[in-house]
Amino acid sequence: MTEKRPHVRFLHFSDIHLEQGFREVSSLKFLNKRLVGWMNLRLRRAKHYRHAPKKVRALAELVSAEGIDVALCSGDYTALGTEPEIVYARKAIEPIREAADGFVTVPGNHDVYLPDALGVFEEHFADVLTTDLPELVRDEVWPQVRLFGEHVAVITVNSARPNPPIMRSSGRIPDVQLEGLADALAHPKVAGRFVFVMTHYAPRLKSGRPDTPNHGLENADELLAICGSVGRGAILHGHVHKCYSVQVPETPMTLFGAGSTTQAGAEGLWVFDIGADSAHATRGRWDSKRYVLEASSRIEL
Ligand SMILES: [Fe+2]
Ligand SMILES: [Fe+2]
Repeated sequence: MTEKRPHVRFLHFSDIHLEQGFREVSSLKFLNKRLVGWMNLRLRRAKHYRHAPKKVRALAELVSAEGIDVALCSGDYTALGTEPEIVYARKAIEPIREAADGFVTVPGNHDVYLPDALGVFEEHFADVLTTDLPELVRDEVWPQVRLFGEHVAVITVNSARPNPPIMRSSGRIPDVQLEGLADALAHPKVAGRFVFVMTHYAPRLKSGRPDTPNHGLENADELLAICGSVGRGAILHGHVHKCYSVQVPETPMTLFGAGSTTQAGAEGLWVFDIGADSAHATRGRWDSKRYVLEASSRIEL
């Protein structure tokens, strides 16, 4: 369908933090940082995500109502990255995947919370972790490149990793993935297209400054340098639970954070319309029953 349309329409959402699935988790999985995370969840976070499943269903309705072609999610599907949570999350987003022509994603740090979670996300999300240019994969799965119509490419790199220290939730894109990203941007099937580069961690905050060492992307500068010569494109991320866009001097690509699309009172998302010579972004919000787009927030790219 997207091959013949002049514009391709993308939805970017993130950090839906579904908290279902714990009942099936062995208590042995909680004798570590998860115990602290679980207590935090019960005491502080639960009220923010009580309606997350309903909002995920509303996202599928938005995809249908707004004629979204491709849904993009920048990770943090779960709270503590246990397998039952991952299984629940994959089922929960199925209506979104079915409503759109394409679905592209990366894991967040909560989806690979501790070393015992490694590989679980890739196993259960395998059907949506595909690439049109497998020769560019450098790190078993990443980077992935998806080509949409004649004018758009989406490149994903994985910046999420387990963080056993209790106070640390930082990320890093492995060097081999950054090399793969540079190769992807120069690839003849990608060059000249509008390019989305998506990863979980924010290269910059809304202020334009880097995030803190304990919470941010360790090699944000390297990522921005590689994206410095992209003609048309945008960098999409989650992790920071605030919806914003920011322009930084290191790259012509605008940075878009979807925030946490299901967090009560802070719901955010972006819709992008990308054509051969034009591109714009529109911010979305939750109006207590459904997600709506704010025409006045339109940003030309
Ligand atoms: Fe998050
Ligand atoms: Fe995160």
